[in-house]
Amino acid sequence: MSQVVLVTGCRSGFGLLSAVELARRGHVVYAGLRDPGCAEELAAAGRGLPIHPLALDVNQASQRDAAIGRILDEQGRIDALVNNAGVALGGFLEQVEEDEFRQVLETNVLGPWALTKAVLPAMRQRRSGKVIMVGSMSGRIGLPGVGVYAASKWALEGMSESWRHELALFGIELTLVEPAQFKTDIFTRNRRIARNAQDPDSPWAPYVRSLDKSVRAMVERSAGDPVEVAHLVTRLVEAKKSAFRHPVGPNAWMRAMLGRYVPFGLTQRFIARWLVPDPA
Ligand SMILES: NC(=O)c1ccc[n+]([C@@H]2O[C@H](COP(=O)([O-])OP(=O)(O)OC[C@H]3O[C@@H](n4cnc5c(N)ncnc54)[C@H](OP(=O)(O)O)[C@@H]3O)[C@@H](O)[C@H]2O)c1
Repeated sequence: MSQVVLVTGCRSGFGLLSAVELARRGHVVYAGLRDPGCAEELAAAGRGLPIHPLALDVNQASQRDAAIGRILDEQGRIDALVNNAGVALGGFLEQVEEDEFRQVLETNVLGPWALTKAVLPAMRQRRSGKVIMVGSMSGRIGLPGVGVYAASKWALEGMSESWRHELALFGIELTLVEPAQFKTDIFTRNRRIARNAQDPDSPWAPYVRSLDKSVRAMVERSAGDPVEVAHLVTRLVEAKKSAFRHPVGPNAWMRAMLGRYVPFGLTQRFIARWLVPDPA
């Protein structure tokens, strides 16, 4: 049956591909855009599929309310919300400034929390609905150089776990997608590095260079095709019932098991060998 789905962060990557895949499968898709000026790009990617663009910066309360109000006016219901919008931030934790940390937490944790909260009354009334959170493998394993991002995705994991239990009481299902690395704009157009991480005189500079090189090489060599995540999101929207966590992508299951079962001391020794300073 055709579902009414709201997906956030649809300019590129998982959001764009999920919106297209869901529309291709016959669902009614509302695609949130932080910058509504990108609606034409979305329409071009959708190639005539009926995808409804929406101005939706997840950090703006007025836009969240307007988006939900419009969908309920036009469709009378929202069957699924895909909280996909997110930002990353590279930089060692000592280098990050408070405004930078807050912005990541706002977009990756408070935004999805507030949007979900706003959608729930309509879902509860029908005693059905799905909320899909796009987390990350960084929500399972905290790697150096991406501590702020890891903090945000760990917070999203904890919040999602609590919410899964709470929402089950009203027939609403919350699931968590945990992608490993995929080739999306998060590593190119949307690549964000803390201001201080660009200081060549910082004691962290040789490690910033080293990490930058290994992340670039890893993305080039082994990052997955983001369409895999779009297919998973679509399956979760369509499934009657789903498990809570869904690791996806290159080595995702192995990394999930590593985080859970390998003693932390072993992981730390392995990471210390990998994190070598790069002379300028
Ligand atoms: N790619 C990966 O390897 C990977 C791995 C694990 C998890 N993830 C997660 O997957 C999700 C999607 O990322 P992606 O890889 O597809 O990257 P992406 O191509 O950069 O897409 C991120 C999307 O989020 C939007 N966005 C950013 N801030 C927003 C805000 N305040 N309100 C609404 N939309 C906002 C961006 O819009 P603009 O471009 O207009 O700013 C963009 O459409 C994120 O939550 C990310 O953390 C990605």
